[in-house]
Amino acid sequence: MESDTIEKETNKEQGLKNNFNNSQHDGELYTEREYCKKILDVSYNPYEGFHPATEKDDEGKKVFIDAKKICRIFGTDVKTKVLDDVNLKIYEKEFVMILGPSGCGKTTLMNILGLLDTPSSGKLYISNNLTVNMAESERAVFRRKIGGFIFQQFHLINTLTALQNVELPMVLDNLETDTRTQRAMKLLNLVGLKGKENNRPSQLSGGQQQRVAIARALSNKPKILFADEPTGNLDSVSGKQVMKLIKELHDQGITIIMVTHDSTLLKYATKVIRMKDGQIEQLLQRDE
Ligand SMILES: Nc1ncnc2c1ncn2[C@@H]1O[C@H](COP(=O)(O)OP(=O)(O)OP(=O)(O)O)[C@@H](O)[C@H]1O
Ligand SMILES: [Mg+2]
Repeated sequence: MESDTIEKETNKEQGLKNNFNNSQHDGELYTEREYCKKILDVSYNPYEGFHPATEKDDEGKKVFIDAKKICRIFGTDVKTKVLDDVNLKIYEKEFVMILGPSGCGKTTLMNILGLLDTPSSGKLYISNNLTVNMAESERAVFRRKIGGFIFQQFHLINTLTALQNVELPMVLDNLETDTRTQRAMKLLNLVGLKGKENNRPSQLSGGQQQRVAIARALSNKPKILFADEPTGNLDSVSGKQVMKLIKELHDQGITIIMVTHDSTLLKYATKVIRMKDGQIEQLLQRDE
């Protein structure tokens, strides 16, 4: 290739990269692949297959979580309303994805739904139980027995091995040593980490650490999985492995609530919540 052609090609590539880096879609960053797909096919729409949710969509479904007029205010002197009158029903076996610009309140909402935090006002029902009446010990039982949690930063305990990290919730649940070790081994095998049981988190890749976190989240057979940007810190291959695992859990009947910035992942969702400034801007349901 002539040198000026090479230069032109390089400029074109750089231009695309710059465009990619600057590309925003209502605050959601496109992944590189999605952007390329978008520029090749202008009709590409990550929301294809979804329609605005209506009451009819929820007929016959069993409510798992019911959030009514949830507000969350942070700060004492200067008060910031981070969640503003959020009304939301999560039904059993749904795969809910929450999207929205950074700072719009996604993590705050998920922490409240998972009983990691309490709303400043409003009511939250889990399986028809009003959570405001629950003692802290009861909330802890929900977090340990009904809910499973996966975070962007993995939150593994660095001084424990992969096996011990997965065993931990079962230790807290007073399971017998043999039972919990067997179960933790089985779960690590399930997430493709056979042979890594004795590695500490620092001796594992990011993707492997996230898979340990998934195994840990599954240790007490949760009915609902809360995942806050579970692929946010992973390369695309590890991200795919993690999504495959989460999809399998959904296929087995576990309800999933997942926060993400990556709209290419919407293909896994049955419901999409788009948030803006502490409110639900749009609720979408997958077409039947
Ligand atoms: N403990 C806290 N004290 C004060 N402000 C907080 C606290 N936690 C969150 N906030 C504020 O609430 C807003 C929403 O935060 P949140 O973490 O829910 O956003 P997010 O949508 O998850 O953003 P991101 O996509 O960056 O993770 C932010 O402005 C944040 O600064
Ligand atoms: Mg967040």
